[in-house]
Amino acid sequence: MSGPTTPYESYVYAYPHKTAYRALPERPALRDLWAEQPRHALSLYLHVPFCEVRCGFCNLFTRIGAPEGLTTAYLDALERQAEAVREALGGSGGGPVRFAAAAFGGGTPTFLTACELERLCDIAEQGAGADLRAVPLSVEASPSTATADRLRVLVDRGATRLSLGVQSFVAEEARSAVRPQSRADVEAALARIRDAAVPVLNMDLIYGIDGQTEDSWRYSLDAALAWRPEELYLYPLYVRPLTGLGRRQEEPSAQWDEQRLRLYRAGRDHLLAAGYEQVSMRMFRLPGAPAQGADDHACQTDGMVGLGCGARSYTSELHYSFDYAVDMREIRAIVDDYVRRPGTGFARAEYGRWIDAGEARRRHLLQSLLQARGMAVAEYRERFGSGPWEDFPAELGRFADRGWLDGGASGVLRLTPEGLAHSDAVGPALFSADVRAAMAAYARK
Ligand SMILES: C[S@@+](CC[C@H](N)C(=O)[O-])C[C@H]1O[C@@H](n2cnc3c(N)ncnc32)[C@H](O)[C@@H]1O
Ligand code: SF4
Repeated sequence: MSGPTTPYESYVYAYPHKTAYRALPERPALRDLWAEQPRHALSLYLHVPFCEVRCGFCNLFTRIGAPEGLTTAYLDALERQAEAVREALGGSGGGPVRFAAAAFGGGTPTFLTACELERLCDIAEQGAGADLRAVPLSVEASPSTATADRLRVLVDRGATRLSLGVQSFVAEEARSAVRPQSRADVEAALARIRDAAVPVLNMDLIYGIDGQTEDSWRYSLDAALAWRPEELYLYPLYVRPLTGLGRRQEEPSAQWDEQRLRLYRAGRDHLLAAGYEQVSMRMFRLPGAPAQGADDHACQTDGMVGLGCGARSYTSELHYSFDYAVDMREIRAIVDDYVRRPGTGFARAEYGRWIDAGEARRRHLLQSLLQARGMAVAEYRERFGSGPWEDFPAELGRFADRGWLDGGASGVLRLTPEGLAHSDAVGPALFSADVRAAMAAYARK
């Protein structure tokens, strides 16, 4: 590993990254994959790959709009998939299936109408078997689609968290990030969400936008804080290949890194002063706000059932999904393929990556070290029979040399504040050589 040249190498929200997935020639049957897996506290994720617009920074698996009939066809396919997956999980071994958390993400789940959202909840409950009113249910929304009728359905059906993509309260910054929306629209959406009494409101904000200053960043933070959201996610801007911004901006520069680090520190300090606690580099939470399970990335359980064509699923041995793309034409083709499949078309895993013992260790270390509270060394040792310093002496040594690591003398391996600020360099430094090579060889489309 050479030293990192940027604090913003990549956002590691899941390991291994989807670009390390490959076609699985053996196409393993879900029934076999899940046969011996514990299934008493699974997470359920439903992916809705539709948005009204394509924001300039976004590389998520989503298409702009839906021609007549496509959302219905998508929900029909989701229902077929939910039934196929439930049947596969209901097979031998493992015990009864129970979901401990659920999330609707995208794209923009609230692109669906109120009636379609009812159906989405039916699919999660009757199709997949989740008891939505009994577990945390998180839903992503954009300001213009967070309408009162949709919010009513979601709250009635058990939504406990609504995550609103705001990005910036400054109109010029929203424009510069190619996220066309007015402050008035955002404020009206926030009022509707508070009226709907969702227990946890989260807002996403972005820093490092062209033209953004410390003052304008603080202005957005204060506008967000006026709503006293239970959670706030502060994202450093990334300009990724094949996105709107990626097509027209130049290479990342040292000045931009410096701007993002400065705005990160200003944002973190502002939220800490306002009484929030830091959960990870990006996430801040009001003390006492209910934890939301599926979004609590410290969660080390392996069982995730993803439904929809952009969703991943995890067993302890295989992470899998459908084909993946960023280019709009490719995405449309993948969605079209998904909606045409019969139920039998969902019985096998097609794209993915096998997780061996070494990768499981890396994943555990990565996902807990990137949390502000750090990693309990005893838990790691109990799970793997060895200690993190034995398994990763070079990587951890380098973090310690840079002043990013807080030793572990207390039995907890924790990043220092500077280490946390460099989470997007720490994460990639823990990738295995195999995963790194697979990501580098991935042909973007
Ligand atoms: C699934 S999206 C949010 C949901 C919803 N579609 C919306 O945009 O309102 C998750 C969040 O990731 C952040 N994000 C996505 N791409 C990003 C990028 N390139 N740089 C920084 N943040 C990004 C944005 O803050 C976004 O709200
Ligand atoms: S940021 Fe949200 S609304 Fe914008 S394109 Fe991405 S998923 Fe859609």
